[in-house]
Amino acid sequence: MRHTQLFLGEDNNDQTTFYNNIGPSGYQDTALEIQHDEPREIKMSRRVGVLNYKGGTGKTTTVVNLGAGLAVRGKRTLCIDLDAQGSLATYLGVSYTNSLAHVLLDQANLNDCIVQARENLDLIPSDGNLLQAEGNMWRMQDNGIVRHILADKLGSIDDRYDYILIDFSPSVSLLSESGLRYIRELVVPVSMSYLAMVGIRQVIQRLKDISQVPRNRARLYCVLPTIFSARVQQDREVLSILRRHFGHKVANPIRKSLKLVEAPSHHQTIYEYSPRSNAAADYTLLVERILRNG
Ligand SMILES: Nc1ncnc2c1ncn2[C@@H]1O[C@H](COP(=O)(O)OP(=O)(O)O)[C@@H](O)[C@H]1O
Ligand SMILES: [Mg+2]
Repeated sequence: MRHTQLFLGEDNNDQTTFYNNIGPSGYQDTALEIQHDEPREIKMSRRVGVLNYKGGTGKTTTVVNLGAGLAVRGKRTLCIDLDAQGSLATYLGVSYTNSLAHVLLDQANLNDCIVQARENLDLIPSDGNLLQAEGNMWRMQDNGIVRHILADKLGSIDDRYDYILIDFSPSVSLLSESGLRYIRELVVPVSMSYLAMVGIRQVIQRLKDISQVPRNRARLYCVLPTIFSARVQQDREVLSILRRHFGHKVANPIRKSLKLVEAPSHHQTIYEYSPRSNAAADYTLLVERILRNG
């Protein structure tokens, strides 16, 4: 019902209706943070999830190029694909034998599923087998265990990486829920359409729900405008709505770029395919923002 309203809002160009549906402005990030009392580990990787429940908002593009940018800066980075479409391995041109599904189904050790994609850039790939693993998860009696399955399976991988980036699927599933419990920070890419912003609203609500769980402390790290054209009025309007709502949490936009569309078919990151492009510069700003914050 609400979706219908939003669609109508979009068709009628009724920005106010849409804005009201997102919720109050002035995003309070503390509301999503739960203090936890675990002793601080000496070495923890930063676990960053890239999620929007809308497909095609630039999640995979962001995981690949943010990961590549961090790796180029010498940061040991692991990208994990939580999407059965398996775009990460295809994008990076990596072949593999075992995938995340094999780990979830206890058919392979974690180490046997990690493939090196580039220097400093490792990958845990996924493919259609993930659907079977998710099916098994649904059949398990104890949802509590399932909701922590990713953390359990990834075990002590933390000390091997500076950054762990998770490419979420757009669907709400037990696996993506366990991913949300695993990560600490969330990047929400928003392509410049109103519908993509509906996705944000869902993510925020989901984060709020999950943050009710004691010892869970994922927080919104940033909203990342993607496929942005400064010349298009709607894009500028959406950006200003985002800034009004999320303030400094809105990162510099990733401009619309043909290079980003072309790079995957060459199995290259933007730094390999077109290092002097606007797209490479834009992703570098995101990399630097993340590096600045730890
Ligand atoms: N900044 C951008 N400019 C132009 N096209 C983009 C940009 N970012 C992503 N795309 C394209 O949009 C499509 C969806 O991107 P993708 O990263 O696969 O989204 P998601 O993982 O959220 O489904 C892809 O064809 C991708 O090449
Ligand atoms: Mg994707």
